[in-house]
Formats: sequence, C-alpha cells, structure tokens
Amino acid sequence: MAPSTLMWTVVATASAPFFALFLWTYGLPVIFRALSQSIGTTLGWYLRRKTEGRRSMIVRMTEDDEKTFQSGSGSSSDPPGKSSSNTSLDDGWENIEASTAGTSKNGDTGDQEWDGIVGFFHPFCNAGGGGERVLWAAIRATQKRWPKAKCVVYTGDHDVTKEKMLARVENTFSIHIHPPTITFLYLSTRHWVLSSTWPHFTLLGQSLGSLVLGWDAFSLLVPDILVDTMGYAFVLGLSKILFPGMPTGAYVHYPTISTDMLESLDPTSPLGSQGVNAGKGVGLRGLAKRNYWKAFAAVYSWMGASVDVVMTNSTWTQAHIKKLWGPKRTVRKREHPIAVVYPPCAVRELEKEVDVSEESEKQREKVLIYIAQFRPEKNHSLILNSFAEFVSSGSEASKDAKLVLVGSVRDDNDSKRVYQLRLLVNELHIKDRVTFQLDASWPDILQWLRRAHIGVNGMWNEHFGIGVVEYQAAGLIAVVHDSGGPKLDIVTTVEGQPTGFHATTSTEFAQGFEKALSLPDPLSVRKRARISATRFTEEEFARKWLAQMEILVAAKTQAS
Ligand SMILES: *[C@@H]1O[C@H](CO)[C@@H](O)[C@H](O)[C@H]1NC(C)=O
Ligand SMILES: *[C@@H]1O[C@H](CO)[C@@H](O)[C@H](O)[C@H]1NC(C)=O
Ligand SMILES: *[C@@H]1O[C@H](CO)[C@@H](O)[C@H](O)[C@H]1NC(C)=O
Ligand SMILES: *[C@@H]1O[C@H](CO)[C@@H](O)[C@H](O)[C@H]1NC(C)=O
Repeated sequence: MAPSTLMWTVVATASAPFFALFLWTYGLPVIFRALSQSIGTTLGWYLRRKTEGRRSMIVRMTEDDEKTFQSGSGSSSDPPGKSSSNTSLDDGWENIEASTAGTSKNGDTGDQEWDGIVGFFHPFCNAGGGGERVLWAAIRATQKRWPKAKCVVYTGDHDVTKEKMLARVENTFSIHIHPPTITFLYLSTRHWVLSSTWPHFTLLGQSLGSLVLGWDAFSLLVPDILVDTMGYAFVLGLSKILFPGMPTGAYVHYPTISTDMLESLDPTSPLGSQGVNAGKGVGLRGLAKRNYWKAFAAVYSWMGASVDVVMTNSTWTQAHIKKLWGPKRTVRKREHPIAVVYPPCAVRELEKEVDVSEESEKQREKVLIYIAQFRPEKNHSLILNSFAEFVSSGSEASKDAKLVLVGSVRDDNDSKRVYQLRLLVNELHIKDRVTFQLDASWPDILQWLRRAHIGVNGMWNEHFGIGVVEYQAAGLIAVVHDSGGPKLDIVTTVEGQPTGFHATTSTEFAQGFEKALSLPDPLSVRKRARISATRFTEEEFARKWLAQMEILVAAKTQAS
C-alpha cells in the first residue's frame, strides 16, 4: 500500500465518527422531514387520484342542476346575485358585492369567475346553534361572491337529506342557500370525535379522532380550499401535511385548550382557585396532568400555526388564539393577522321592530331590563343589590324606576334560583319595583325592548353577550359589567362618544343607572347604540368573511 493511500485511509477512518455525528445532528432532521413530507404528499396524491371521479361528478351535477334551476324552478327561489326574496339576510347585498369585488388582488370582477371547490368541515351541521348560523351565513356569502364556486359540506348527519337540511336552514335562520352549488358529503366516522368515545384523555382522544374524520373527508373529496368552522385544528394540520399547496382557513369559536386552563392547575396562580380543575396541579397526578395539557397545547399550537387564514368570533377568543398559535405562526411565516369576524346577530330585525325616534322616546318608561337565563354566573343578585342601592338613594332619576328580569326557566335548579332571587327582592324591600318575566315569548321581549330605557348585564367576563347587542339594536342605553365582550367588543364608543356605561361593583352599577336615567339627551345615545350594533349585522359578517376568503381564493389561483 502506498503511503499516501494509507494516510487517506487513516484520515477517513478517523473522521468517520465526526461525519456520522454531523449527519446525526444536522442530516437526520432534514432526512426525517423530507421523508415525512414525501410520505404525506404521496398519500395526498393517492387521495386525489382516488377521489377524482367524484370530483368531476360533482362539477357535472352542479352545472346540470344550475341549468335546470335557471330554466325551471328559478321563479320560486332565485339564483345568486338576482335574488328578490326579502328575508333579513338579503338586505344590503348589492352593497357588499359592489364594495368587495374591487378589493381582490386579481383585479376587479375577474375572479368572480372562480369555480373551484370550497370544503366546509362541519360534522354537526344540522345542530341549529350559533355555530351553524355562522356556517350557513358563510356559505351563502361565498355563493354570492363566487357564483360558480362549489361549496361542499362534510357532515355526519346521515339521516338528513340536502332538501331537508336546506329547508331547516331557511326556517331556523332565514338564510336562503342556493341549492345547485352546494353538496353534502357524508362522513361515516363521526363517532370518533364524540366525547363519549373517549372517557379518558378526552382532549387528546377527540383530537386524534378528528384525524380519522379528516382522512374520511379527504377520501370522499379533496377540495381546493378547506375551511373548518367547528374548531378541528387537527384536520387543518393534517391537510397541510397531505396537500401542502391547499389553502386552509379556520373560524374559531373557542380554543380547544385555553391558557386559563393551563394556569388554573397551578394553585399559586391567580386563577388557581377557579374552575373544575382548580389547583389540581399538585402531587404526582397533578404533574402528569400538567405535562399532558402542556404537550397537548404544544401539538395544538403546531396544528393551528399551519392554518393560512384564521378568524375568531370575538376579541376574547382572538386573544387566546394569539397566545397559543401566534409564536409558531410567526416562525412558519403565516403573516395574515388573526381577524375578529363577529357572528351575525338579529340586528336588522330589531331595527325593524323597535322604533328609535322622538315619538318612541315618549313611550319609553323608567324601566331597566336584564335579559338573561337564570344561571349563577349571570349574577342577578348583583343587579338586585345595585338596583336597591339606586332606589334608596332617593334621587329624582330613581323615582318610579322599575327593574324587569326577563329569562327562561329550564329546570328545577333555575326555579330554585328564581325563588331565592324573590326572597332577596323581599329582603331588599323592592318588591313593588321588580318584575320577573319568566319564559317570555319573542313578541313579549320586543314589547319590553320598546318600553325600556336601560339594558343591564351583570356577568363577569362574559365572552361575548348577544343580549347586549340586542339592547343596542333596540336603542337601549346599556349598563354592563366592565369586563369581557360587553366591555371589549360591544359597549364601545361611536365617534368618540359613549354608547353606555360600564360598572363592576353594586355602587358603580347604581351610579350607572343614575347617569343613564338622567341623560339630558337620551335619544342621541340610543342612536349611537344603534350605529354600534350595526357592527354585528349579517352584512358586516359577510363583508369580513369575504375579505378573508379572498385571501384564500387568491392563494389558490396564484398557486395554480
Ligand atoms: C317580502 O316580505 C313580505 C312579508 O314580510 C311579503 O308579504 C312579501 O311578499 C315579500 N316580498 C317578496 C318579493 O318576497
Ligand atoms: C364564540 O363562541 C363561543 C363558544 O361557542 C361562545 O360562547 C361565544 O358566545 C361566541 N361569541 C360570539 C361573539 O358569538
Ligand atoms: C357577583 O358579583 C359580586 C360583586 O362583584 C361578586 O362578589 C360575586 O362573586 C359575583 N357572583 C358570581 C356568581 O359571579
Ligand atoms: C341541578 O343541581 C343538582 C344538584 O346541585 C345537580 O346534580 C344537577 O346536575 C343540576 N342539574 C342541572 C340540569 O344543572
């Protein structure tokens, strides 16, 4: 062997461990990432191939349905954009189309032609709650903005046909969905996300279960854009692994795990004494639980950080999602800010039903109303105490003032609480001034909204407060708790002028009532409150929703 060859052999042998170490520390993660990426995209490619047939079938069927619809039954319900039906959602539509069409990156009306498939992941879409109202309002807005786009809803409600579903949406929410461009795809694995399937490790179990559900959805159809409206961040994370180029959006009502929850385990933190898990973070079990939650929060953040466009239903939720997803979103270069898109409320209906004018001002009485279920956290006793304090002040404003508690009684526990509140009313000697209006019908409630002067809310840290929006829409002067949604989102200023009062203690509430009842020009405050409420209309929701959807459509059209 020549000496130089020997030397090289020695050098190579000696450096092998260093080289291996180098590979191990730098190469392995890269290899691992490349491997998982290629596995992900291979599976994604397989799913696309598998569902190609269904995709072209949906496209064909939509076009056929649209033709039949235009020629035949078009007179009973109208194609998008030419609607003449007058359900509440239809008001102001023309304005939306005019104002949003020009804001997209792809030029003026050009991308109205966009004809891709938007998948809405909402396995419980027949539930008829607030979350579903958001879903349907979103679909309708999307249909109007992109008449050729196809909306696909992934649902687990096997027993409900498309006709029944759309009829129910019309009746419950008075939202008219254009039938040809919507398709329902039925998931068969919904039980994987029920909490009953996961008695232990519910959070993790449900989230892993949602991955199965997500796979189920993609095996039915791979959409062009995926939007989750139920909080399944793991499904959006999965879609990014399988289809890295598919834009994703999330509408978050509530974080799956909140930072409050993590803090509440710690007995020394300020939140350590609140909630069901209060102070349970001690001992071995506590340690395990804390680590479990922390690990879960880390995975949840990773999944959430993959989402391209994030919307939340309130400032409260936005703050929590920012804390959880924000740091990783920055790392992954998701630069679109997390937007607050308030859910649509029945503001326009109240504007129609309740007059706010010089004449109506004469019909208003010195009535304070508090519309709330008789639940402990609504803190009716705080309001009764403040009202008693206000009455006993003997001021001019407090003469003949009345308090009306409007609310539903759902069960025995509620009736017990009402009984206790009646006892408190006796104790405070305000019996002749307080009315309990139990299980009031909507017309009754409207009647109170027309008569009353003030709307009250006594709950600490309420996340939103649709009731307070309704006070504003009805022109009531709000006196609300100085926390949560009523403070951050609803009772804010209009053109620098107040629309109501904030209070925390009973004395502050009593002062709030005094101020609200002795305003020199209450009508101007009522008018401002109405303006404030327009931020929560259906049109406003549609406008904000479309602004976010346009980002996704632009990403899709630029990518392809
Ligand atoms: C509008 O609604 C009113 C009742 O709310 C109804 O009588 C009328 O026929 C509706 N008009 C159209 C065009 O649907
Ligand atoms: C947001 O969603 C949560 C959970 O459903 C709900 O408690 C809250 O009231 C919602 N906020 C709004 C603005 O509707
Ligand atoms: C009601 O309000 C009072 C005064 O702010 C507070 O001390 C009490 O804890 C509240 N009760 C509930 C159930 O929130
Ligand atoms: C009513 O209260 C009882 C006892 O406090 C409790 O066990 C039950 O779950 C409550 N019912 C409801 C519907 O909250």
